This record gives sequence, C-alpha cells and structure tokens, in this order.
Amino acid sequence: MATIRLRETGEVIEGHDKVQQFLESQEVLYEHWDMSKLPAELNAKFVLTDEEKAQILTAFDTDIRDLAERRSYVDWDIIALSDSTPNLDELLAKFKNVHTHTDDEVRAITAGHGIFVVKGESGYYNIELEPGDVISVPEHTPHFFTLMDDRQVVAVRLFIDTDGWVAHPYEEKEYSVE
Ligand SMILES: [Fe+2]
Repeated sequence: MATIRLRETGEVIEGHDKVQQFLESQEVLYEHWDMSKLPAELNAKFVLTDEEKAQILTAFDTDIRDLAERRSYVDWDIIALSDSTPNLDELLAKFKNVHTHTDDEVRAITAGHGIFVVKGESGYYNIELEPGDVISVPEHTPHFFTLMDDRQVVAVRLFIDTDGWVAHPYEEKEYSVE
C-alpha cells in the first residue's frame, strides 16, 4: 500500500483508508491491483523483453481496460527503470524538475517502487508507491517522479493522448522541493 509523507511537516500517513482519504482530498486517484495476477518470475525483473512486457499487460488486462473505460485512456505501455537503464542518474536528475501536464499522469506499479512528489494545498507531499498501487496525478498539478532506495520500478502507463504527456516546467516560488 502507498505511504504519504508530507514534506513540510514530516507527517506520515499510512493504512489504506487514511491514504485513500488523503489522496481523495487532493483529487488524486488511488486504487490497488491484485498482484497475484502477475506471473511470479516477473515480480522482481527490471530488464524486460517485449514479450515480458506484453505478459504484464495481459496479466492486468481486465484492470487496465476497466480503468481506461472509466477515464478515457486509449493506449497503455510498460516502463521499466533500474541500474541497468543507460544513464539512469541523468534520467533521475531530469525527472526531478517540477512540471505539469495537460492530461493526468497515471501509473500502476507492478514491481519495485516509485515516488510521486506532488504539490498539495499546504506544500509538497510524497506518494511512496509499491507493487499494486495505481495513482493518477491530476492535470495541471505540479509534481515530479523519482525512485526509492531500491532504484528500480516497473509500471504500466496509460494515456489519453501523447500530447498530454508533454512536461511543462513549473517554477516553484513558495515551497522547497529539495
Ligand atoms: Fe509528470
């Protein structure tokens, strides 16, 4: 289950109901997929062949189509990041720029971990994600994504339109985002 960490105060929010309640108040979609659907050999694999990516999409096909139908996503794919990814540090440095998109940003974590750092009403908060967590950062909401200490993640991305993915830099004047 996801954990929330408020960066201004250090407050931690844990437990499915409290996390869901908090994210709902921030208009962030939060759902959970049943990870037992994933073939065991893909639980901890971060370098994936096209066939393995297709296997993950097939395992969660019902969940993906249900989400897509409810929220108008038209396509989906798999992203995998780990120390085997060329230029991972460069990529992570680039990711750390706060930005917005014209569409929402949806991720379903299927292995490893990731953090979305999102601007809320009283500062930035971390959404620390583990396998099975599904979130969507609303359109026009400043945020960035980074990895956790394990430095590896596999996630399903769903989108409405590739134009909606363009990152528009956001200049933060009020809060520290370090
Ligand atoms: Fe983004």
